[in-house]
Amino acid sequence: MGAVSEVPEAVLHALSDVDGANHAAFVAEPEPHRGMIAESRLVRQTNEPERAEFAISVAEQWHRRGLAMTMMRLLETKAAQLGVTVLYGVALPDNTAMRTLAGRLGYSTRPNTNDPRTVLLTKDLRRTERLH
Ligand SMILES: CC(C)(COP(=O)(O)OP(=O)(O)OC[C@H]1O[C@@H](n2cnc3c(N)ncnc32)[C@H](O)[C@@H]1OP(=O)(O)O)[C@@H](O)C(=O)NCCC(=O)NCCS
Repeated sequence: MGAVSEVPEAVLHALSDVDGANHAAFVAEPEPHRGMIAESRLVRQTNEPERAEFAISVAEQWHRRGLAMTMMRLLETKAAQLGVTVLYGVALPDNTAMRTLAGRLGYSTRPNTNDPRTVLLTKDLRRTERLH
């Protein structure tokens, strides 16, 4: 939920252990080898693999160009291909950007009982399939 100046080794391993099945990620680069400007990822729950948590981040100077919208849609397509039926994310209540984006993509918002400082953004992907 915030910036860090150093990434612990264990976190680095967890973030780069992308197997495409239980952990999938997309990155955006403006041009090859010019560095990442956005990433979205999902990690399936071990005990309930049909549920996965998402996270997304776009570099500040690239905000409001539709990148997050595109990357969330890519993530949802990947999730559906993997058999994930429910995608959820955790956000701070005052994260207007994420809450608005999620609302536009059909996510519902409710308090996070595991961490009352945050809210849960949840989408049932089966419902989306039926709507299409
Ligand atoms: C949330 C975040 C990913 C949005 O990225 P983005 O690429 O700027 O979003 P998009 O350009 O795709 O915006 C799509 C829509 O979301 C809404 N939105 C995005 N940013 C907004 C803001 N600051 N205020 C209000 N609505 C916003 C708008 O409806 C926007 O459509 P519009 O630009 O046509 O009005 C970005 O602000 C970010 O990286 N924040 C920090 C990381 C974070 O909070 N991640 C969420 C935790 S999982």
